[in-house]
Parts: sequence; structure tokens; C-alpha cells
Amino acid sequence: MLINSIALLSVLGWTSAQATSAAHPPPKPTSSTEQCQPYSAPIVQEILPNFPPIWEPATIVEGDTTAQNKFDEIKQVLPSYIKPKGTHDGDFSAVKYDPADPDCWFTRSKCTQPKVEGLSEDLATLPEPNTWGLGFDDGPNCTHQTFMSYMKENNLTASLFYIGSNVLNWPYEAQQGREDGHELCSHTWSHHYMTSFDDEGAFAELYYSIQAIKQVTGVTPTCWRPPFGDIDDRIRMIAEGLGLRTALWEYDTNDWKLAMADTTPEDVRKNYDEVFDAAKAGEFDDHGTIVLTHEITGETMDMFMEMYPKIRENFEYVVPLSAATNTTNLYVEEDAEDGKVFSDYVYDVYGSYVQGPSSTNNDYHPQPTATGWEGPLATVANPTVAEVEAATPTKDQASEGDADVGGEGGSGGDNGSESDAKNNTNTKPDGKTRISNFHPEWNNNNSNNDGSSEDSAAVASIAKPLLTSSALLLVITTVLSS
Ligand SMILES: *[C@@H]1O[C@H](CO)[C@@H](O)[C@H](O)[C@H]1NC(C)=O
Ligand SMILES: *[C@@H]1O[C@H](CO)[C@@H](O)[C@H](O)[C@H]1NC(C)=O
Ligand SMILES: *[C@@H]1O[C@H](CO)[C@@H](O)[C@H](O)[C@H]1NC(C)=O
Ligand SMILES: *[C@@H]1O[C@H](CO)[C@@H](O)[C@H](O)[C@H]1NC(C)=O
Ligand SMILES: *[C@@H]1O[C@H](CO)[C@@H](O)[C@H](O)[C@H]1NC(C)=O
Ligand SMILES: *[C@@H]1O[C@H](CO)[C@@H](O)[C@H](O)[C@H]1NC(C)=O
Ligand SMILES: [Zn+2]
Repeated sequence: MLINSIALLSVLGWTSAQATSAAHPPPKPTSSTEQCQPYSAPIVQEILPNFPPIWEPATIVEGDTTAQNKFDEIKQVLPSYIKPKGTHDGDFSAVKYDPADPDCWFTRSKCTQPKVEGLSEDLATLPEPNTWGLGFDDGPNCTHQTFMSYMKENNLTASLFYIGSNVLNWPYEAQQGREDGHELCSHTWSHHYMTSFDDEGAFAELYYSIQAIKQVTGVTPTCWRPPFGDIDDRIRMIAEGLGLRTALWEYDTNDWKLAMADTTPEDVRKNYDEVFDAAKAGEFDDHGTIVLTHEITGETMDMFMEMYPKIRENFEYVVPLSAATNTTNLYVEEDAEDGKVFSDYVYDVYGSYVQGPSSTNNDYHPQPTATGWEGPLATVANPTVAEVEAATPTKDQASEGDADVGGEGGSGGDNGSESDAKNNTNTKPDGKTRISNFHPEWNNNNSNNDGSSEDSAAVASIAKPLLTSSALLLVITTVLSS
């Protein structure tokens, strides 16, 4: 019943929620048909009742007081002048919208600089020249084995924008994304147009996708990308209240259209070529870019692998969005490994020496600037993990704050000037001084790295037990409810 109403999903033949029955051991499939046999992991069976129905537009689950309380806090600061727009499937034909774009509605205007004062700019381009910001939407997909191996062989780390419903349907694939060291981000619960939701629905779409990723992979993401790029300032504030940085894109490969009858691989190659042509024309000599690509089907992944050599010919660096923005706090959990700043990343992967950053965006969530440092959102955007996952707040959580995803500022009072970079400290609004973790050999000596930045052991330890120790998997008889 639900899928019929979701145009995109139907087109792509996505299946709906999976239910249960018999048992068999975890498979090691090679063909995509085998890989895409639905299964049900015990971990998912346990938590399923705490989530909205898979692939259905989310609302707060009855009795989920944690979610309700969180929403009630965020709701207080949402702008009432921005109303929901259009339908969940993206029919905006009935929407009368001021051409002056008061809501900073990306769908209409490609706006990435919020009109609500204090909201962080969306990430769409990158400060680093000749850099390709690598992200894949709509995963985890059941056939991603070859693709994941390819990324590993080529030392690629990506930002993976996972759909919550996919995470619960394909939990082991989601775990592999984390185990392989990619950065996990949210792509909502059910992949609908976010501006169409009322406040509660939009909250629930983000909240439960964060929860799905946390419950299945062990980490709480700090980044997200709106499906179809459908975002306005109301949605930005809800995301910020949940500690999520917003990533959009500058170029679109439209690779997902490979699933449509009227789109050929040649069409998609042309879209990639446009980016390469821009690179050849010098477009990225002074900044980098984010190109939208998908993990949605085997075809989109194949296309990326085909194109990757050309990407390397035209771009010096291919990096995950966290590295592109010197964002070291990949996840809310303090014991999760840190991300790398750009200079560390390109040194480790490409052996390149570049100037280290003058600061890092390493707080636990984007700075709750929407209503000022002291404003209501400052109390709302609290440690997600404490409220959401009942974990103990850590020492720094209450006071940290300096994120600036947009690439402007974010440097704690030194105007981001690179000439200051030799002092790799930066003062927080609370007066504390933070120390960045870039390479001491080309920066000064107070770079007292806390040693956690390359601790990938933490990654492996989370997924492995789940993958290997669960004796039985419940096989699913897929219930196609459509
Ligand atoms: C990946 O990194 C490893 C170790 O740093 C290196 O030996 C290998 O050549 C790299 N592979 C590619 C394709 O860059
Ligand atoms: C994953 O990829 C396969 C193979 O291309 C495709 O048939 C399937 O619909 C995709 N699954 C989802 C949930 O997108
Ligand atoms: C990240 O650090 C580099 C220096 O390695 C700097 O050029 C760049 O502007 C920084 N990016 C952000 C978003 O702060
Ligand atoms: C930051 O920039 C502003 C405007 O460009 C300037 O007035 C101010 O002095 C700068 N501050 C620092 C610390 O460089
Ligand atoms: C570097 O930091 C020290 C204190 O840690 C300060 O005295 C000095 O002025 C700073 N230098 C620059 C260039 O900011
Ligand atoms: C950093 O400091 C250590 C001792 O604190 C010293 O041995 C080392 O030479 C210094 N490195 C640089 C690059 O200054
Ligand atoms: Zn998507």
C-alpha cells in the first residue's frame, strides 16, 4: 500500500519492509541476485517496533517520549512563516512561492545560503582547489560488494548518505560501510521531499534515520543530505537541532536515472564529462566541488567505477566531505574514531604535503547559531547521544561549538586566515583552546594530537561481533505490501 504512492521508489522497483520467518546462516553471496536476497538480522528484529514502518513517511512513534521531547524542544524555535510545500512525492505545482525566495528553498533557487540569520551555509562547493567531494546517496544497496571492494583497493573514503529504511533492510551492508571506514551520514527515513512534511514529520524523517544508523552501526551521524536536495530554512533548523550538517552538491551526474527507460549510460557519461570539461577549463583551480553520485543500483556504482580513472585525471584529490571541511568529529560518540583534516587526509592517501588548517570543525554538532549562541536552539542542539541513545554525556559536550560546514569562518576569531595556521590552536566561545590534529612536521610543535585520529581499530570492533557471532539469520519472506 505504501510503495504505490511513492513515485521514485516504484520506478526503481524498491521493495517494502521485510518480515520474517525460517533460518539460515549468514550468506557470503557473490552474485547480485544472491546478495539481494532479503534477510532479517536479529538486531533489526529487536528494534523494529521502535521505528516507523519502513519506507513510509515517518511520524513520531507512539510512546516514544524521547523523540517527542526532543521534537518539542526543537519546535519552539521553528519559524512559523515557513509552511510545508507540495506533496511527499515532490508535486509542487500548487505551491505559490515568492520569487524572492524567502525560505532559501534549494529546489526552487539552488539557494545554499540560509536566510535565517545564524544558520550554517550548506556545503555544495569546497574550499580546496582541484578536489572532488565524494559522496554516495541512497545506500546501503544490497549489490554494493564490488563497489565497496573497489573503493578499498583505490584508497577511497566516501561520505555515504544512508536511507534509514535501507539500513534496517540491509543492516550488514550498512555495517560494512562503517567497517570500511567511510563516513556515514543520514539521507532521511523514507526518502521523500522534506519540505512537504509538517514539522513533526520532518523531524521524524531525520530522527529515525539517525537512530537506524546508530542502532545498526553503533555511531550517530553528524551530517545529512536532503533527498532531491529539497530543503528550506525550516528543514535546516530541524536538522541543526538534531546536530546534522547539511550537504548538497554543485554538479549532478543524474546517474540514478539509469533506472529509467529513457536514460542511457551515454547520457550519464555526458553528465560526468561536463564536470571534467569544467575542470579542464580551470573551474576548480581555486575551489573544489561536490558531485552528486549514487549507491542506489549496481548500474550507478558501475558507472562511478568506470569514471573514476577520469576523475583522477581531472582532479588532484578525491576526499570525503569531512576531510574536505576539516571536520574531525565524524560521529557524536566520543569513542568513535575521528575524521581527518584535509592536510592529514591527502598526506595519508596521496603523500601530499599541504598547509594544515588554522582550525578544525570538531565540535559534536553544528553550532546552534540559529537563535544565537545563548538562544533556545543552543539548548536544543545538545549531545544527541545523551538524549537519543541514553549514553553518558562526555566532558566536552556541553561547551564545544565551532562548526562551520560552509567553509567560511569557522576559525574561532582569526578570520580563517591561513597565515595564522602556524599557531594550530583556536579559541572557543567558551574560552577553551582546542588543538587541531594536523601534521606536526610542517606545522609547529604544539600540535598535541590526542592520538585518536587514526584509530581505526574502534571501527572494526563494532561491526564484527554482529557479523560473525549471530548464529542464525531469520530469512525473510518478503512481504510486498503494494
Ligand atoms: C593505496 O594505499 C596503499 C598504502 O598506502 C598503497 O600501497 C597503494 O598503492 C594505494 N593504492 C592506490 C590505488 O592508490
Ligand atoms: C539495489 O541495486 C539493485 C541492483 O541494481 C536493484 O535491483 C535494487 O532495486 C537496489 N535496491 C534498492 C533498495 O535501491
Ligand atoms: C581546511 O584546511 C585547509 C588547510 O589544510 C584550508 O585550506 C581549508 O580552508 C580548510 N577548510 C575549512 C572548511 O575550514
Ligand atoms: C577579520 O576581518 C574583519 C573584516 O575583514 C577585520 O575588520 C578584522 O580586523 C579581522 N580580524 C582579525 C582577527 O583578523
Ligand atoms: C600563538 O599562540 C600563542 C599562545 O599560545 C600566542 O602568544 C601567539 O601570539 C600566537 N601566535 C599567533 C601568530 O597567533
Ligand atoms: C618538537 O618538539 C620536540 C620536543 O618537544 C622536539 O624534539 C622536536 O624537534 C620539535 N619538532 C619541531 C618540528 O620543532
Ligand atoms: Zn536520494
